[in-house]
Amino acid sequence: MSGAPTDLVAALAALRAEAEAQIRAAAERDGLQRLRTEFLGRKAGRVTAVLRDLPALAIEARKAVGQAANEAKAAIETLLDEAEAALAARERAAGVDLTMPSRLSFQGAVHPVTRVADEVCDIFRELGFTRVTGPEAETERNNFTALNFPPGHPALDLHDTMYLGPGVLMRTHTSPVQVRVMGAYRPPIRVTIPGLCYRRDAWDASHAPVFTQVEGLAVDEGVSFVDLKAAIGFFARRFFAPGVKVRFRPSFFPFTEPSAEVDVECQICGGSGCPVCKGTGWSEIMGAGMVDPAVFEAVGLDAERYTGYAFGMGMERITMQRHGLHDIRVLYDADVRLHAQFVRGR
Ligand code: DAH
Repeated sequence: MSGAPTDLVAALAALRAEAEAQIRAAAERDGLQRLRTEFLGRKAGRVTAVLRDLPALAIEARKAVGQAANEAKAAIETLLDEAEAALAARERAAGVDLTMPSRLSFQGAVHPVTRVADEVCDIFRELGFTRVTGPEAETERNNFTALNFPPGHPALDLHDTMYLGPGVLMRTHTSPVQVRVMGAYRPPIRVTIPGLCYRRDAWDASHAPVFTQVEGLAVDEGVSFVDLKAAIGFFARRFFAPGVKVRFRPSFFPFTEPSAEVDVECQICGGSGCPVCKGTGWSEIMGAGMVDPAVFEAVGLDAERYTGYAFGMGMERITMQRHGLHDIRVLYDADVRLHAQFVRGR
């Protein structure tokens, strides 16, 4: 700014009046902040500019203009402070507390399948099961050989299994962790094993190439099929409903003998038959059975002394049963409308 000192003093008075009018008109915080910068900003503030030009003036003029500029600055500062305080008081009176944490519109949530897997492990914990995990990249030995799959079994086929290299693969089920647990701990053993499994399956309404299982394993002296049925019954009543119907169907797995598949009454149609249960009224939720002696031998446990039961349960299946979902893909296509339903509480 330049000109005679009296002009500068007059200009400062005008600046002060202008600031005062604008501060009175400003209705929100952002506006006040902008005015503070416009008039008092260190770099480009309009009052600051006058002060910066002072050294160029004669000593007397410098005094007069300097005093006027400092007064203008102080006055504008006071007006801004008062306006901000008044705004805060109005907000408080209206019940707005700016120190409150905001309600987030984007909030993370535990995935429904993870939540169900946690719940399954919690239910078995009441029966004395400890939760353990194992790696998703496995050896062919743990995933197949030690589990008594004969060489050339169709599951070893490239169409089913994702191989990472010779003898190394993405586990196709959580059962290999049985081998790890029995190799590392002596009985009594009671573990649940949640985790992801991989198969070269195409997506459809009931299949995903990556899915979640919870494996169970109980090994001790004198463990029988009765214990297996009791544990599964306890679980199903707790997880689904106290009166839920459960059935065991004879089946085959290389690592159990005898083997069974376990169905629960379809929770979506109540047993009358629907597309999800393919009209049967039953939903298959797991494979199970008594640990085959060949598996005990592979891990170096005395098959004469110990018996055990095992099961492997599909978490997506029971999540779909729990929430009435008709297509597994809705769990994995990251639609926030699904996930928003799981943000709060269980
Ligand atoms: N691993 C089997 C699968 O993925 C499921 C299974 C069946 C697990 C029987 C078990 C079992 O522990 O005893 O299809």
